[in-house]
Amino acid sequence: MINLAILISGRGSNMKSILSSITSGEIKNVNPRVVISNNRDAAGLSIASKEYDIPTSLILPNGKKGWDYDKHLDSVLNLHGVLPSDGLICLAGYMKIISSEFVNKYKFRIMNIHPALLPSFKGLHAQKQALDYGVKITGCTVHFVDEGVDSGPIILQEPVKIYSKDTENEISKRILELEHKLYPKAIKLFAENKLKIVGRKVIVTNDE
Ligand code: GRF
Repeated sequence: MINLAILISGRGSNMKSILSSITSGEIKNVNPRVVISNNRDAAGLSIASKEYDIPTSLILPNGKKGWDYDKHLDSVLNLHGVLPSDGLICLAGYMKIISSEFVNKYKFRIMNIHPALLPSFKGLHAQKQALDYGVKITGCTVHFVDEGVDSGPIILQEPVKIYSKDTENEISKRILELEHKLYPKAIKLFAENKLKIVGRKVIVTNDE
């Protein structure tokens, strides 16, 4: 059984799609233990507790950065049964840089979703970056988190076409719809032990 923590900072729509895939039985062998936010206004917190009955925790930074903050995060995870041995930590709109100490402690057990086809358009406002650059195809990526920003081994990607009349809002909406399918799919593969990491590549063992 995988003990899952989801880290959020905002509305939590990806969190919701993950939790509903677990509730529906589409993802098996994953136990959602806790949803953690660094932001007290994160709407996802009340969705997790009210709609899914998942314990939540608010860890305010109060000026703390790096491992100073993450060691507190680590102790809250452990308290909820999420450990480096059997845990999975999914960042879902989590707007805080994770320290290298934390990344190394949970090596290849932290995932993130990014609204672009990495390695293009890393960082903030990825949809706008893609639109401004003029690419015709963008998309979303689920990847393992390493010490860099949006640079870890890629698990799954899905493309989205950009049309000339598209606004940032329209593209973001289309990407988000795909994110809600892609993230649960990646977690399911992880829980079924179908992801093998070779160098910086993630081999999906049932890939066609
Ligand atoms: C998503 O677009 C995700 O790709 C990015 O942050 C956004 C989070 O949205 N990392 P939500 O909070 O899951 O609705």
